[in-house]
Amino acid sequence: METKIIKINEDNYFDKIFNYPAKLLKEGGLVAFPTETVYGLGANAFDAEAIQEIFKVKQRPSDNPLIVHIANIRDLDGLVTDVSNTAKKIINKFWPGPLTLIFNKREEIPNAVTAGMDTIAVRMPSNKIARKLIELAGVPVAAPSANLSGKPSPTTVEHVIYDLQGSIGCIIDGGPCEVGLESTVLDLTGDVPTILRPGGVTYDALKEVLEEVALDPSLEDEEATPKSPGMKYTHYSPEADVYIIEVDHGFNAQGVKEINKLIKNKFGDYKVGVLATDEYKEDYISEHTISLGSRQEMDRIANQLFYALRKFDEMEVEIVLAESFEQKGIGHAIMNRLKKSAGFKIFEVLSE
Ligand code: TXA
Ligand code: MG
Repeated sequence: METKIIKINEDNYFDKIFNYPAKLLKEGGLVAFPTETVYGLGANAFDAEAIQEIFKVKQRPSDNPLIVHIANIRDLDGLVTDVSNTAKKIINKFWPGPLTLIFNKREEIPNAVTAGMDTIAVRMPSNKIARKLIELAGVPVAAPSANLSGKPSPTTVEHVIYDLQGSIGCIIDGGPCEVGLESTVLDLTGDVPTILRPGGVTYDALKEVLEEVALDPSLEDEEATPKSPGMKYTHYSPEADVYIIEVDHGFNAQGVKEINKLIKNKFGDYKVGVLATDEYKEDYISEHTISLGSRQEMDRIANQLFYALRKFDEMEVEIVLAESFEQKGIGHAIMNRLKKSAGFKIFEVLSE
């Protein structure tokens, strides 16, 4: 299949340029598009065949439901049975933005979208290109991240092209994504709003609006079954084996020493990359060090994580040793993704 690539920026952001992808979406085609979190692979949420095609193209397990994206708050009513006062409060504060909400679904939604669940995930993205596309398509757009299943989510159009060119109708190039990690998934169907996946909107930000916010038990205990089906799969994995080096639930110069020791001794026969920060990047004996940025700017570190993991693949690195981060603020989402990409392989260093 020929994939049409359309570049959209401030200079050509007119309705006309959206004609082709909007029509394609409406008529059952697949379109990859930028959002503020990561690129999405979209299909008309009411077209069961197009939804099946998403699962096929991504090689996604069929028990992993999709997020439905809308352009306006009024479009929510066509998807969900009721919107509680708590939901309204959250929507007012965080939509449009990197927050996905779980509601009870309407019967008309094809089962393939929700993987047979009674609930549905909905998000109104803030990215202007995403919103205009959905609005002009005139239908809600189901969209998982636009990567092959198991790979790091795409944060630039090059990542999407690498994974999906030739298997979908259109890719919109809207430049790099602002957040670079997927949305926070918040379940509103129980008594207490519960974070199923940490992401762009932090626990602390939610706590400012809500009296109570819970964390899905699986986020603390890897043995527990996650309520979000997607959270049980290995994810975000580059070809290399990833290990995290953690000191006192964070990182310091002792971690650097440990990483250098691992490079010299345990992994001496391999091409080893280090996933580092500006604070320590000069201190490693590996020539394949990528810095995510300064620890003073955690949003930037979040933004660069998937990019760096894919970069290690390009460099054909075999082992990645990653610095660890404190699990607060956006650090929670960073560590969640990093641990999954490492398959929970962590070296804990005891502080001296
Ligand atoms: O930022 C994002 O959320 C991106 C952009 C494209 O919007 N999308 C994204 O989609 O990350 P995906 O499919 O890669 O992840 C969706 C997550 C999965 O973990 C899935 O299991 C969960 O949301 N999910 C979807 N529907 C659900 C439901 N009804 N109940 C619980 N979890 C659900
Ligand atoms: Mg995904």
